[in-house]
Amino acid sequence: MDMAWQGTQLLLVALVAAAWGGQPRTPRARTDLLNVCMDAKHHKTKPGPEDKLHDQCSPWKKNACCSVSTSRELHKDTSLLYNFTWDHCGKMEPACKRHFIQDTCLYECSPNLGPWIQQVDQSWRKERILDVPLCKEDCERWWEDCRTSYTCKSNWHKGWNWTSGYNQCPVEAACHPFDFYFPTPTALCNDIWTQSYKVSNYSRGSGRCIQMWFDPAQGNPNEEVARFYAEAMAAGAVPHGTGPLLLSLALMLLWLLS
Ligand SMILES: *[C@@H]1O[C@H](CO)[C@@H](O)[C@H](O)[C@H]1NC(C)=O
Ligand SMILES: *[C@@H]1O[C@H](CO)[C@@H](O)[C@H](O)[C@H]1NC(C)=O
Ligand SMILES: *[C@@H]1O[C@H](CO)[C@@H](O)[C@H](O)[C@H]1NC(C)=O
Repeated sequence: MDMAWQGTQLLLVALVAAAWGGQPRTPRARTDLLNVCMDAKHHKTKPGPEDKLHDQCSPWKKNACCSVSTSRELHKDTSLLYNFTWDHCGKMEPACKRHFIQDTCLYECSPNLGPWIQQVDQSWRKERILDVPLCKEDCERWWEDCRTSYTCKSNWHKGWNWTSGYNQCPVEAACHPFDFYFPTPTALCNDIWTQSYKVSNYSRGSGRCIQMWFDPAQGNPNEEVARFYAEAMAAGAVPHGTGPLLLSLALMLLWLLS
């Protein structure tokens, strides 16, 4: 009976593996959604501790996808990471800039964005994030604090004039206060980086949205959020009918072997 039982277990494992192998290929394997770094310009290949992460990136020091040098560099105006300047329409207000720094820390350092990583065909990165559910308060505060700063575009990923080596407003794009180009918080957070974010209706602390800002003394709240969405996506990926089919096969095996 012991041998038979072991045989059943092996067969079950084989069956599940076979069923799984038959799934349509998603950009990332299911086990790859948690604690991962995207394959982009400055990310480490794997997350790990970084004791000396700089200033606004320090919440990620227990486990980060960014190096110390990346965390330092991204706090500079026109950092060499992307040669991108926040000050393309005069000086950006410090109250506004700190949100862009935090957004960059999240992008470069977070190991919890796996569920939203997508492959892309871009010269400067192989993967991007898409539709990350940013907590609504983090987006609202970002928008409020930036209303008095100026910009000339609503999508900051494309359309710049790079002839000088950094991003300048193209001649046809006039500088206006932020709310001219981003009339609502949602317009800002969703559009600025081409749908990298999709503002969530969930609030900070709900465990259902990603926080750009958090107090590391209470741990990283985004770990739970990534687990929740990874499980939801995995459940959604199992085709209807497969579960019951596997169960009946297992029961039949048990019956045959008993
Ligand atoms: C940024 O500009 C510097 C020179 O000004 C150059 O050496 C560097 O390669 C540029 N970096 C990127 C990411 O384009
Ligand atoms: C790009 O910027 C340069 C100056 O840096 C300017 O001479 C040129 O006209 C600009 N081109 C466009 C399309 O805005
Ligand atoms: C978002 O949440 C608010 C209040 O919590 C609710 O009134 C509203 O219907 C929600 N919207 C969506 C689209 O779920």
